[in-house]
Amino acid sequence: MEENAEIYRPSPVVVEAANIKEYNQLYKYSVENREDFWAEQAEKLFWHKRWDKVLDDSRKPFYKWFVGAKTNIISNAIDRHLATATRNKLAIIWEGEPGDVRTFSYHALNREVSQMANILKAMGVQKGHIVTIYMPQVPEQVFAMLACAKIGAAHSVVYGGFSHEALAERINDAKSRVVLTADGGFRRGKPTQLKEIVNKALEHTPTVEVCITVRRTGQETFMENDRDYWLHDLKALPIASPRCETEVMDAEDMLFLLYTSGSTGKPKGLVHTHGGYQVYTSTTHRMAFDIKDEDRFWCAADPGWITGHSYITYAPLINGSTIFLYEGAPNHPYPDRWWKMVEKYGINILYTSPTAIRGLMRFGESWPKKHDLSGLRLLGSVGEPINPEAWKWYHRLVGGGNCPIIDTWWQTETGGFMICPLPITPLKPGSATRPFFGNEIAVVDDHGVEVQPGHEGNLVIKNPWPGMARTIFNDPERFRKTYWERFESQGWYHPGDSAKMDKDGYFWIIGRSDDVLKVSGYRLGTAEVESALVGHPAVAEAAAIGLPHELKGNSIHCFVLLKTGAAPSRALEDELKKQVADQLGAIARPEEVHFVESLPKTRSGKIMRRVLRAQALGQDLGDISTLEE
Ligand code: WTA
Repeated sequence: MEENAEIYRPSPVVVEAANIKEYNQLYKYSVENREDFWAEQAEKLFWHKRWDKVLDDSRKPFYKWFVGAKTNIISNAIDRHLATATRNKLAIIWEGEPGDVRTFSYHALNREVSQMANILKAMGVQKGHIVTIYMPQVPEQVFAMLACAKIGAAHSVVYGGFSHEALAERINDAKSRVVLTADGGFRRGKPTQLKEIVNKALEHTPTVEVCITVRRTGQETFMENDRDYWLHDLKALPIASPRCETEVMDAEDMLFLLYTSGSTGKPKGLVHTHGGYQVYTSTTHRMAFDIKDEDRFWCAADPGWITGHSYITYAPLINGSTIFLYEGAPNHPYPDRWWKMVEKYGINILYTSPTAIRGLMRFGESWPKKHDLSGLRLLGSVGEPINPEAWKWYHRLVGGGNCPIIDTWWQTETGGFMICPLPITPLKPGSATRPFFGNEIAVVDDHGVEVQPGHEGNLVIKNPWPGMARTIFNDPERFRKTYWERFESQGWYHPGDSAKMDKDGYFWIIGRSDDVLKVSGYRLGTAEVESALVGHPAVAEAAAIGLPHELKGNSIHCFVLLKTGAAPSRALEDELKKQVADQLGAIARPEEVHFVESLPKTRSGKIMRRVLRAQALGQDLGDISTLEE
């Protein structure tokens, strides 16, 4: 934390334009009248039937919101816009990496989504089924999610960078019958081989009967009879009518399942529902990004992560914004690709990650300076703490010194922003500032006692909120244990982050306090990396830790104990790195693999990663009284 951080006050122009001009009073109202506040936000949306009760907290921590209401997020994200002038407004502007462009008005979006919805129905998908989506960043990825929601099926989007093993594991957990994919996408001038990965995964997924593939790159791929279909072939059939009724759902029906890493090897499928999620995401997006009708909003995440679910797909469409999507690498063919597109399409709001900013920073100032970025009004950051240096570069070179940076702290589990500024909030580089409306957030010690300002502790959220995950798919007990057991008597949510709060009530996130790593903003479990390593025949035991890395925020370092008979070598080191990358995806590739004679363990046999970390950083080892020897 920067004890004496500089304060950036909003310019009069920003304050003048802001929809919300005052934080403290509205915040006070929102926490003292939480249910009223959320009911007022919910009233801005369309409901097929109004709720009987805003919040049901009778089965903590399994909260329910807008109980008794009938809705479908698609009624808000698409259908209601068709009856207004928004119908002919652009919903999506997409640019492919080779430079091809496709645009869709809300009217066209409805057509595409309805066709896909009818195709899914014709393939036997019903309300309550879970469809797995494994796609590159093409508009069809967004259509696919929306099409599932429209017919009441839940989607499970698996990030297109994951390996066939990771994909198969997620398909099997969700028991998907139908998978949607593409032949590939373009990345750094080359097509990725997505369908090949799916083909491999489907060798181990007994439940899958149908796989629908979008043609993007035109690569040859194996298509199995009676299982594989091209989307464009299906769209030419009478089954693909452009008219489809939106299924009316209960507010608490599952909208999607999204797998994320935790502290064991098995990824957990977080469940989000139609009603509360639509209220929470659209409210946070509208207020924190101060959405105006004319905005062009670019969230440069992948739709495969929660950021892409909440702030590419759902919230902006509910708010009737024009979203921009880009398929490929930020530095292809040159490091000004992003800035060129910001200028070309008149983007007003850019929301990205500290890793992406640091990555573009290293090419120097001349690239953003080549372009007129004055159309930008607000910038956003998400995924990991932003270092003040990157913050200032982003603010000065991309924002021209005029754009507030909306640093948003949240998680897959929270559905939407929990701590973030409004455009009017005085900013301190590196701090996500204050809680979003309705949320009481604190930093406490292990007994739940609030620590003094400036001291590190556990971040806790003291109240329920509409966007919260409802459970872990098929494992409610794990949900309760992971997030609610730590501060059970107080009834607080425990996100697993450590943080400090300063004397002005600003939050400074330090990082994860559990066995979860953020590498380039991607979330990985040390246990997943370790289990990939132990899967190698030469490895007896392994430990993975994160160490600070200039570009990635954290990088993965592994400590490996070999089986007797196996000898350390450069070749084996490379093989092990490849093993992890093959199993978990390229993002998980370890920075270094160290061969060791023993691993520090507690007497009960748990690996003390904390000790490995302290050793690697040359720090004091702390309390090692539980160490085995
Ligand atoms: C981290 C991403 C600091 C945090 C939306 C959290 C952040 C984890 C920020 C969740 C931020 C996210 N500042 N840290 N603005 N945003 N994090 O589920 O450690 O992929 O617990 O959700 O990312 O990662 P997830």
